[in-house]
Parts: sequence; structure tokens; C-alpha cells
Amino acid sequence: MQVTSAEFLKSAFKEDDWPRDVKPEIAFLGRSNVGKSSLMNSLLGVRGLARTSSTPGRTQALNFFLINNAFRFVDLPGYGYARAPRAVKAQWSAAAEEYLAKREPLVLSIHVVDSRHEPSKQDLQLHEWLLHHHRPHLIVATKSDKLSNNELRKNIDRIAHALEADQVVIFSATEKRGRDKVWSAIEKSLKN
Ligand code: GTP
Ligand code: MG
Repeated sequence: MQVTSAEFLKSAFKEDDWPRDVKPEIAFLGRSNVGKSSLMNSLLGVRGLARTSSTPGRTQALNFFLINNAFRFVDLPGYGYARAPRAVKAQWSAAAEEYLAKREPLVLSIHVVDSRHEPSKQDLQLHEWLLHHHRPHLIVATKSDKLSNNELRKNIDRIAHALEADQVVIFSATEKRGRDKVWSAIEKSLKN
């Protein structure tokens, strides 16, 4: 995919704020600080378009980005940030689940996990939601640069098993690894 334009559209805290014109959407979901925004920026080749942060839990709303005037990326709030107040955490997951449950233009959900860790309870919960709402999804294991090949292979098998995935894309934003594989999954979902 050649990215000719990528722009931030809006932040949405509730359904009323979701864009109304119909364009296919690709959502990025996963634990807080896992690297969702970095993955988006790396795919787009635009540093700093989606705000990345070393402080977990910074992306609190659904953030919509318009790509090539044709489709949208949606950066969803991260879950599982232990220090967030309970009410805020509840609001995050409700916003994400509402989007997963209702959003018609959603064609692909990218479930981002950390290749170093076993999927958390909330990862398993997200996986259940995706199945429950019949959402096509892709597992992307990021920060692969932080592991040896051996560890990586072991962890990817474990992630694939826990999340019942035939394919887990190994990704690194710093090494630009896995970009093409993620793009080809996105392109496929846009053609359907
Ligand atoms: P929230 O929006 O808070 O949920 O976080 P996020 O999932 O969007 O994570 P973000 O992209 O902001 O990245 C979190 C931290 O991990 C940042 O310090 C990134 O630089 C770092 N990071 C992200 N991807 C990679 C990667 O592939 N390799 C390495 N080494 N660091 C990464
Ligand atoms: Mg983010």
C-alpha cells in the first residue's frame, strides 16, 4: 500500500462523535503501552501522527485517522493500565466494546500484543469479544526487537495457542519488521 495521505480526523468519546460518512475502518486494540500508536505510525510512515507515549494510558478516546481519503485507522484506548481509576477503566472498556459491537464499517481489528508476554486476562477477554461480535481480526506481536530469536519463537507459539490464531505477525516498530505482512492483511480486508 502506498500511503499518499494520512491525517488525524477526530477524537470520539461517545457514539455520537463517530464519523458519519461510511468508509472502511481498521481498528487497533490492545493493552495500554503495548505499542498500538507506534504500530500505526510505522505503517503510515509518519512519526508522531498517532501520539505515542512512555506513560501508559495516554490514548483515552477513540482516535480516527483518514488514510488516502479512502479508509480510516482507529486507535482505541488501551486496557489494563493498573493505575487508572476504576471509573476511567470501566469507561474505556465500555467505549471500546460499544465500538466493536456496533460499528458497521469496521472491516479488520488488529489485536496488538507484546511479544515478550503471555496474553493477559484482558487479552483473552478481547479475543472473546472479537469472536462474539464476529469480527475478523489479526494478531500482531510487537516489540520483537527486545527478544532473542529463540525466545521469540517460543513466545509466538504461546500467543498463537492462547489466542487461537493461525497467524501471528511478528512486528517491531524500531526495526520496521512485519510492516508488509500487516499491510497485506489490511489490503485484503479492504477488498472484501
Ligand atoms: P497507549 O496509547 O497508552 O495505550 O499506548 P500504545 O499502545 O499506543 O503504545 P505506544 O505506541 O505509545 O508505545 C509505548 C512505548 O513502547 C513507547 O515508549 C514506544 O516507543 C515503545 N515501543 C512501541 N513499539 C515498540 C517496538 O516495536 N520496539 C520497541 N523497542 N519499543 C516500542
Ligand atoms: Mg496509543
